[in-house]
Amino acid sequence: MSLTVIADGQLADGLRRIQREVDAVFDALLPLPGDSRAALIEAMRYAAIGGGKRVRPLLVAATAEMYGVDRDAAVRAGCAVEAIHVYSLIHDDLPCMDDDDLRHGKPTLHRQFDEATAVLAGDSLHALAFEILADSETSSDPFTRSELIATLAIASGKDGMAGGQMMDMASEAEDYDLHTITRLQQLKTGALLGASVEMGAILGHVAPEGRAHLRAYARDIGLAFQIADDLLDVEGDVEKAGKALRKDEQQGKQTFVTLMGVEPARKQARALVEQAIGHLSSHGGEADLLRSLARYIVERDR
Ligand code: IPE
Ligand code: IPE
Ligand code: MG
Ligand code: MG
Ligand code: MG
Repeated sequence: MSLTVIADGQLADGLRRIQREVDAVFDALLPLPGDSRAALIEAMRYAAIGGGKRVRPLLVAATAEMYGVDRDAAVRAGCAVEAIHVYSLIHDDLPCMDDDDLRHGKPTLHRQFDEATAVLAGDSLHALAFEILADSETSSDPFTRSELIATLAIASGKDGMAGGQMMDMASEAEDYDLHTITRLQQLKTGALLGASVEMGAILGHVAPEGRAHLRAYARDIGLAFQIADDLLDVEGDVEKAGKALRKDEQQGKQTFVTLMGVEPARKQARALVEQAIGHLSSHGGEADLLRSLARYIVERDR
C-alpha cells in the first residue's frame, strides 16, 4: 500500500505493524468450513483481510499502549472495531445504499459474490466483533469485557454508525444545516473512531473521568476524518483511494465540503486536528503516535 504521504517513521511503522497483526487475527478467526457456508466465509475474508488502512485498530493499540496494555489484547479489540467498520463498508457499497463497484482497488463484495452474500457477510462480521470482545482472550476481566461490548454496541447502532448512515441517506432528499451535518458525521464516522480510543483506555483500566480528554481528542479527529474523506471524494486520485470518487455531489449527499466549499472545509479539518492534539497536552511522548495519527487523518491521500 502507499504510505508515501507519511513523513513520520513511527506512524508508518505503526500502520504497517497493525495491518499485519489485524490480517493475522482475521485469518485465524475465519477458517474455511467444509460445508455450504464456505462462500460466506470466503466473502468475509475477501472484505476483512488486506486493503484497509486500519486506522481504527491503530487508534485502539496506540491508546492501549499509553496505559501499558498487553499488545494481543489491544489488537483483538482493534479487530472487533475493524470488523464493524468492514461490515459497514460492505453494506455502504450495496446498490440500496451508495451503489459502488470498487473498494480497496477491487470489486465490492456484492460485485465479486452477490448481494445476499454481501448482506450475510456484513451480518456475520457484525456478530464476530462481539464474539471477539466476549472472549476471555481479549480480557480476563468480565467487567472490562462488558464495558468493551457496550461501548462498541452503542457506537455501532442507532446512536452511532448506523444512525449516521440513516442521516446520510436522508441527506439526499433534505437540506441540512452545518449543525445537522456535524451530527451526521459524528455518528456515521466519529462514533467508531471514538469507540476505538475509548476501548484502548478501557483495556488500560482508565476510569471514565480520566478519559474525558481522550474523548475530546476522538471527537475532533472523528469530524476531521470524515471531512478528509469528503475532500478526497472531490479532489482525490481513484488509483490511490481504491474506490470510486466524485460521487457525493452526484448522489446529492450533503457534507462539509458541499456546504462550505473545499478550502474552508480543509481549513476546518486542519483546525480540528490542532484542537485534537491540544487535548493531549497532559501527555508526553507516550501520546506521540496519537498526535501523528491525527495529522495523518487530514493529510492522507487514501
Ligand atoms: C472509509 O473509512 C469510510 C469512512 C468512514 C469515511 P476508511 O478511510 O477508514 O476506510 P479503509 O478501511 O481505510 O478503506
Ligand atoms: C461511509 O461514508 C461511512 C460508513 C459508515 C461506512 P462514505 O460513504 O463517504 O464512505 P466511502 O467514501 O464510500 O468510503
Ligand atoms: Mg455512504
Ligand atoms: Mg460510500
Ligand atoms: Mg466518502
